[in-house]
Amino acid sequence: MAKKVFNFNPGPAVLPKEVLQTVQAELLDYRGTGMSVLEISHRSAEYEEINNQAMALFHELMGLGDNYKIAFVGGGASTQFALVPLNFLAKGQTAAYVDTGEWAAKAHKEAKIVGQTHLAASTKEEKYRRIPKLNEIKYPTDAAYLHITSNNTIYGSQYQWWPETGTVPLVCDMSSDILSRQLDFKKFSMIYAGAQKNLGPAGVTVVIIRDDLLAKAQAGLPTMFQYKTHVDKLSLYNTPPVFAIYIVKLVLEWIKKQGGLVAVEKVNRAKQERIYQMMDLYKDYYRGTVDPDSRSWMNITLRLPSEELEKKFLSEAKAAGFVGLKGHRDVGGIRVSLYNALPLEGAELLASFMDAFKKAN
Ligand SMILES: Cc1ncc(COP(=O)(O)O)c(C=O)c1O
Repeated sequence: MAKKVFNFNPGPAVLPKEVLQTVQAELLDYRGTGMSVLEISHRSAEYEEINNQAMALFHELMGLGDNYKIAFVGGGASTQFALVPLNFLAKGQTAAYVDTGEWAAKAHKEAKIVGQTHLAASTKEEKYRRIPKLNEIKYPTDAAYLHITSNNTIYGSQYQWWPETGTVPLVCDMSSDILSRQLDFKKFSMIYAGAQKNLGPAGVTVVIIRDDLLAKAQAGLPTMFQYKTHVDKLSLYNTPPVFAIYIVKLVLEWIKKQGGLVAVEKVNRAKQERIYQMMDLYKDYYRGTVDPDSRSWMNITLRLPSEELEKKFLSEAKAAGFVGLKGHRDVGGIRVSLYNALPLEGAELLASFMDAFKKAN
């Protein structure tokens, strides 16, 4: 029997137990083929079915029409930081970026290599403790696009409101909160996300692009760098990361089985409430690093009164079966990552542990 732990890792992160069990059960003989899914061709009927189902499930769960195209690509979300401007920032145009943390800043940095950019808003001076208000986000009305990062994995902030960009395409890095709550995904012209937090294992990035933006893509890029290549070839231009996509498909089925994003949101709401309630109860002890209206449901960041107490907290938490709670080195302290696959029980038990730890220390 594996040791029972609650996995709060920030990514790669916890996967649904049921999904791992299916992977295990199917690993040596994928549905009667006599081969592992690791061994079959990406051009086989079996893989084609996996690929098509995964795309259809994204459409279904996100409520997207046929005008949104899905592609599965390698290279991580970090590669999209460069491919977005390469594809959509034409010469003479300006791309606008909101800086709400390290990943947002990295996306902006890559765009600067490609072309002209504009910093639409930044909360860096405030140690990224909040998401800018809508009226603080300013950009040219003819910008190529506005890029935002919906959830800031390191700093623990998350958008609870969305810029209304009119004719300017809204592009969003949703790596750390995709499919965690109900959302009008049609607000976005493009969404991308590395799989390794809410969708599956590392190795695949999902890219979702609306037709009208795709039509504006730059020609003349190397073939693999063009989003159009992957869309037109249904992510089969070259060999895709098949095992990762297979697991993503299982995770999407798991989400659907629970009742889709309505059900997922309900559990995620309850999980973050348990932790923030404990922090609000002992606010001089569990010191949140983010303003309440910008709090993330996915990554909760906090400091304790001293680094010694933080070390003690982490080591006692680990001994009690709560792993992966160490904060990112840029923030320090504690980071509680509550991705979709982390069960409510994990958040409840961690909240009780926090209560007991505070009383004892
Ligand atoms: C919001 C966000 N964007 C981008 C990245 C980078 O993703 P990758 O490692 O897949 O390039 C991360 C990684 O944690 C992230 O949290």
